[in-house]
Amino acid sequence: MNILQINSSARADQSQSTRLARDIVDRLQKSNPDASLTVRDLGRTPHPELGEAALAALFTPADQRTPDQAARVALDDALIAELQAADVIVFGVPMYNFGVSAQLKNWIDAIARSGVTFRYTDKGPVGLVQGKKVYVALTRGGLYRNTPADTQVPYLQNVFAFLGMTNVQFIYAEGLAMGPDAEQKALASAQSQIEEVLAA
Ligand SMILES: Cc1cc2nc3c(=O)[nH]c(=O)nc-3n(C[C@H](O)[C@H](O)[C@H](O)COP(=O)(O)O)c2cc1C
Repeated sequence: MNILQINSSARADQSQSTRLARDIVDRLQKSNPDASLTVRDLGRTPHPELGEAALAALFTPADQRTPDQAARVALDDALIAELQAADVIVFGVPMYNFGVSAQLKNWIDAIARSGVTFRYTDKGPVGLVQGKKVYVALTRGGLYRNTPADTQVPYLQNVFAFLGMTNVQFIYAEGLAMGPDAEQKALASAQSQIEEVLAA
């Protein structure tokens, strides 16, 4: 089993979503001692945004790219290769201003590549990243689960399904900014969810 852990908090050492993602990985490794682990920390090593130069590089045929363009595309290629090699992907996802962090959006922009991770057919899009199991540890200051204000879960479900990843489990740690009691309860609840989801 190849596990890919993707941390998307801007915080390195104090990130609650990274801690929960790590807890999920620990639990997976306990039941799969031979599993390999790759950690992609998008806070410590931010991926560049999809700007005009990056778009131009991507839309230039490989044999016509300048060295800078080839280097830029290679950064995205590395993330795609990590994703393709993984059997299980564990995301740590903080809520920032009602959405995912820019770091995670940049990762999504890097790995969504036509002809590689999805393709269009006459029947619509087909995801090419198949057979993966995905866990997402969500951390939020407030409470959004199962409300229209939770824009993260539908967004991530859409992105993952578009790419072919339909086996997705969300673990929620909510109310983390609502006082120490609420925070403790949220973290304990997240631990129970991890146990429940991974025991299944
Ligand atoms: C820049 C920023 C924006 C945030 N926006 C929201 C928000 O829109 N809704 C919310 O519930 N919490 C929000 N929070 C609180 C975080 O979701 C919460 O602290 C979470 O635990 C952060 O995860 P992390 O420790 O992995 O970075 C925000 C925090 C930061 C730093």
